[in-house]
Amino acid sequence: MSLLIKNGRIVTADSDFTGDIFCEGETITRLGRALDAPPNAEVIDATGKLVFPGFIDPHVHIYLPFMGTFSKDTYETGSKAALVGGTTTLIEMCCPSRQDEALAGFELWLSQAVGKSACDFTFHMGVTKFDDRTEPQLREIVARGIGSFKVFLAYKGAFGVDDTELYRTLKLARELGVIVTAHCENETLVAERSRELLAAGVTGPEGHHESRPPRVEAEGVQHLCTFAELTGAHVYCVHTSCAEALDAAIAARQRGVNVWVETLIQYLLLDKTYAERANFEGAKYVMSPPLRDARNQPVLWNGLASGLVSTVATDHAPFDFQSQKPMGRDDFTKIPNGIPSLEDRINLLYTHGVKQGRLDLQTFVAVASTNAAKLFGLFPRKGTIAIGSDADLVIYDPDYRGKLSATTQTQAVDYNAFEGCEIEGRPSIVTVRGEVAVRDGKFVGKIGRGRLLERAPTHGS
Ligand code: URP
Ligand code: ZN
Ligand code: ZN
Repeated sequence: MSLLIKNGRIVTADSDFTGDIFCEGETITRLGRALDAPPNAEVIDATGKLVFPGFIDPHVHIYLPFMGTFSKDTYETGSKAALVGGTTTLIEMCCPSRQDEALAGFELWLSQAVGKSACDFTFHMGVTKFDDRTEPQLREIVARGIGSFKVFLAYKGAFGVDDTELYRTLKLARELGVIVTAHCENETLVAERSRELLAAGVTGPEGHHESRPPRVEAEGVQHLCTFAELTGAHVYCVHTSCAEALDAAIAARQRGVNVWVETLIQYLLLDKTYAERANFEGAKYVMSPPLRDARNQPVLWNGLASGLVSTVATDHAPFDFQSQKPMGRDDFTKIPNGIPSLEDRINLLYTHGVKQGRLDLQTFVAVASTNAAKLFGLFPRKGTIAIGSDADLVIYDPDYRGKLSATTQTQAVDYNAFEGCEIEGRPSIVTVRGEVAVRDGKFVGKIGRGRLLERAPTHGS
């Protein structure tokens, strides 16, 4: 099967030209102008459209047992939602509990995805404990194509590691050339402040951000970077929400630490007033780190534009408003943490980034696709449009106008944090390795076609 996309404005992180893309089987085999195609090829006219490399979400949760419940999406619903929104590759956090062995956790997460995903996927391997048995298991997981780890400096008693475990994880990562992604918050400060707030009668969702102010996150980043500095490991701060945390990463980078920064579409567009909404509505907006004061938003946008922030992810973690968020109705520490956005990241970033002049098209592609591909060992197979790359393509209609709503979304959760937000543009066609998976905004792909992407470590010296 072959596919010819004609007359599109083809935009990558470092190029912008109008022309044609020819895909044979799963791969891009020709790029140019006025390309011809064999008679049996599907021909798509992309006149007036933008053509982007498939977008990569480097931080999602699809299967997530967390805070006494499970996130709502499955790989079937989650991968469909991703594709409808233009995301063709998911990097999921594999998060075994501290009671589980790393290998058993990896197999469990793999079993949730294999044969069930419509898009390609891989994992950051969560190191949620590090004891005598952990190291050989992590070596095996890396040998099986998982070139990145994840550590949590928060979530005491659940996923969080102590400093000895952190040090040993980073030492091993350095030896193997594996990059370590990290949730950075000081868990002791969170626990103590939460206890004080509850004792003072602050029980609602607004207590959540009071329990973990910006300095708590900045301390986590500083802490991670100190350990990275002394071990030489390469690290990546996930879901960076505020100026203080970004400053801590920049300070570390200036003294030679290999640290990269991710932010989320939620932090770019929502602020803490959402979590202060009355009648428990704020619970929809509880995540960690929390939504911040709006003063942080221009700092994060400027970070993206200037390259200080490398990626925009979602940290998609869908918990229903009706049945799951109320677990914390009388105690904000029990509200399942997470704000879903897998389906909407690209359209929101395009609308508020490109259309509003905050990001140029190249930077948009870089932060939503290419940089993640480069950091996590997927480039140039993913993250660009080049001969030999996988034919994951997003034919994007910049003239589309619509509104986001839970009533029309594909992701399996009962609310949309961006309900009513207008979007200016959406994917009209999305391909996964040369096969059309979305047409006119509707999923037409195949469940089970998505593959595990094996990634060699790329952070050796
Ligand atoms: O609130 C969040 N971020 N939920 C998902 C788990 C995590 O910390 O990434
Ligand atoms: Zn996290
Ligand atoms: Zn996460």
